[in-house]
Amino acid sequence: MCGIVGYIGSQNAADLIYEGLKRLEYRGYDSAGIAVLNDNKINLVRSVGKLKNLNEKLIRKPMPGVVGIGHTRWATHGEPSEKNAHPHLDCHDQIVIIHNGIVENYLELKTELINSGHTFRSETDSEVIVHLIEEAWQKRNQDSLISATGQALLRLEGAHAIIIQSVLVPDRILAVRIGNAGGIAIGKGENEMFLASDIPAILPHTRTIVFLESMEIAAIRQDGFSCYSLHGEPRSKEYFQIPWDPVSAARGHYSHFMQKEIYEQPLSLTDTLRNRLNLDHNEIVFKHFSFSMQELQKIQRIMIVACGTSYYAGLVGKYILESLSQIPVEVDYGSEFRYRNPLIGPETLVLALSQSGETVDTLAALEEAQKKKTPLAAIVNVPGSQISRICQGIIFMHAGPEIGVASTKAFTSTLVDLFLLGFYLGHQRGFLKPEMRKNLLQKLVRLPKIASDVLAKDAIYKELASQFYEASDFLFLGRGINYPIALEGAHKLKEISYIHAEGCPAGEMKHGINALIDRHLPVVAIATQEKLYQKMLSNIQQVKARDGIIIAIVSDDKGEVGQFADYCIEVPNLHPLLNPVLNIIPLQLLAYYVALKRGCDIDQPRNLAKSVTVE
Ligand code: G6P
Repeated sequence: MCGIVGYIGSQNAADLIYEGLKRLEYRGYDSAGIAVLNDNKINLVRSVGKLKNLNEKLIRKPMPGVVGIGHTRWATHGEPSEKNAHPHLDCHDQIVIIHNGIVENYLELKTELINSGHTFRSETDSEVIVHLIEEAWQKRNQDSLISATGQALLRLEGAHAIIIQSVLVPDRILAVRIGNAGGIAIGKGENEMFLASDIPAILPHTRTIVFLESMEIAAIRQDGFSCYSLHGEPRSKEYFQIPWDPVSAARGHYSHFMQKEIYEQPLSLTDTLRNRLNLDHNEIVFKHFSFSMQELQKIQRIMIVACGTSYYAGLVGKYILESLSQIPVEVDYGSEFRYRNPLIGPETLVLALSQSGETVDTLAALEEAQKKKTPLAAIVNVPGSQISRICQGIIFMHAGPEIGVASTKAFTSTLVDLFLLGFYLGHQRGFLKPEMRKNLLQKLVRLPKIASDVLAKDAIYKELASQFYEASDFLFLGRGINYPIALEGAHKLKEISYIHAEGCPAGEMKHGINALIDRHLPVVAIATQEKLYQKMLSNIQQVKARDGIIIAIVSDDKGEVGQFADYCIEVPNLHPLLNPVLNIIPLQLLAYYVALKRGCDIDQPRNLAKSVTVE
């Protein structure tokens, strides 16, 4: 969703902010704007559509100045238009703000502010924020702009990330976080400071980062920052080093970030495993999963909460965790869990899965769980993200920055982390015996290499895509642990190619889906695992009997499926609990090449955003 970038230093602010916004394009947006302070005046540039429109304006009319803020907007209140694009000014052009989130009580505040004489220039909810600050400043006693702002913003309902700039404090940028509307990262450079909603925006400039917590306000200077609660109490905060390097956030020679992220899975999987395996003792080592043995013994149930692709990873995780740890697992969408008064207590470990660590529904689900005093754990990719800060047990994916909206490498890293967690719990609770552990780890270490073998068959996926890119519907079938892989395969195709696709447990076809099968329908059937192979075979025969086109994902030995399938994609058979990591790769590439053939905007699919920080 909306992206935020800020800069204070001695370089041209507009240029740096524009570059930062470019690096946040993957979040999705419909308009953008930059404000720069120069000669005690705030200059603004805003435009609708892609950032190149903003750049054209900047080229026509450069904006000198060394302090500035920028925003990419995803319209919620008011259509995408220049006047609704951020930044927004107060009535006297003295204060300017950018905002992520929704002001839930904006109508009430707007009426009150209009009655006090404020003039609004946009249809956005965000504009009330700048007038609220202006009003507080006009009515101040001895207050500084910082304390006036802190007091004023206490009136906002909802969750917000707000950046403020003003001619009243020309050598400061203010940043406020209220609730969970996405993070605000403050980055330290050499006598210059950066601000961003997401780390990749500022990664080429700094890896020394600190995040704001909810109800905090920071005043950022060229040489550092001070932080307070919204009520004015000082807060001390410490920087930490982000382990990502800027190259990992660049597209390199690939045409799309998604393509790059699919291809770097052998590397990201290696990074996920790095420093985690003790092969001498057949153990898993976690650095931040700080539960005592006693606490682990008490867990009677695991409740996974997640959204989107992470939710599908959770469904695979149910099989993995139950099998390795013998603890019953439930999986729910963050958006459902948060409103259903779940029956959980201290005996349930609530486990959030999230690439970004900022998804608002997953965060709200954790908050709901917190109220019920459950232990909280998470598998997260972004270091320092909100989810990683509120959970007692954290497993970082170490997949590196994922930029493409459609999640790929974070999905496979989540599956591997779930495997590691299942192993860890199974070992700690005495279920996994030494021989089993040895056998599992021997398979696990082979995973990255085998993933690269699957990727090497690129020509097959490309060829299939060129045959089916004009299909209007796709069906994906799987059973057991591969059912969620069918769901994720369908999800990938929908997200980036806009082809209608459904994932279905193969045993359920007879209860409805069979009615859809005809000679035009490509059916991707995952028939790799030994246990359910015969069952899948009979489902494939049923599809063929109705003239459907079968694209089968099979193990090295395709067996009888080979006789019925129109096309076979062979994937090595490593271990039933690890095969999903391999089986999804052809489906990611099929979706990618289909979308490419259809000329879709692969890294920024329509109507979707990478980080969903509003409900
Ligand atoms: C958005 C993204 C998806 C992602 C989902 C959950 O919808 O477009 O790619 O799977 O959010 O995100 P999370 O960061 O919590 O995994």
